Amino acid sequence: MVTVRARVAPLVAILLSAALSAAAPQDRKPDVIYLPTDDETIDGMLKLARVTKNDVVYDLGCGDGRIVIAAVKQFGARGVGIDIDPARITEANENARKAGVQSRVRFMQGDIFDPAVPIKDATVVMLFLLPELNARLRPRLQTELRSGTRVVSNSFDMGPEWPADEVRQAGTHAIYLWTIKTRTDAMQRPGLLAADRATEPAPH
Ligand SMILES: C[S@@+](CC[C@H](N)C(=O)[O-])C[C@H]1O[C@@H](n2cnc3c(N)ncnc32)[C@H](O)[C@@H]1O
Repeated sequence: MVTVRARVAPLVAILLSAALSAAAPQDRKPDVIYLPTDDETIDGMLKLARVTKNDVVYDLGCGDGRIVIAAVKQFGARGVGIDIDPARITEANENARKAGVQSRVRFMQGDIFDPAVPIKDATVVMLFLLPELNARLRPRLQTELRSGTRVVSNSFDMGPEWPADEVRQAGTHAIYLWTIKTRTDAMQRPGLLAADRATEPAPH
């Protein structure tokens, strides 16, 4: 039987090897190279997240902005894209202008692991990173996002400590959905930062 890990191994190798070798024109190198999500997978991700016009869709590592722009065009949502590579942000802004959706999107250069880069306003978070980057991001997602926020990842899960609520196939890619639970529920979950659990007030 071919395991999921074996199936995504070639994709991980592509995303990782080039990221290690290619320096982008800014101080900190990207943790993963730019590889755009195809239209069929974007469609599947937006549907899996059940995006509506009331959503604020964040793409963490947004590339040329295509997921956020599709969320605005197809569902009337608002969107925010964050990418560490300034060239991607220039492209994303240009694509938003061409699509006529500038007033509903914001693209900003930043490191998604920097706590000073806010993500708490998201109601939907899209990811296409790497397994280890998903795992590194998990504490931010679980502690900063509001209850009910949906997180969708292209190709990669969050490891055994945070199983997905739903897994679907979109074209050739597996896509994963998690819904952020209330903070009290989150405290029960294995894998949440011990330090965070320790600071949680005791229930009355
Ligand atoms: C595989 S691409 C995905 C692009 C887009 N989300 C999509 O699905 O089409 C990953 C993106 O993450 C960006 N990236 C890598 N490390 C990052 C970091 N630490 N903070 C923000 N963006 C990062 C890269 O520049 C690249 O554009």
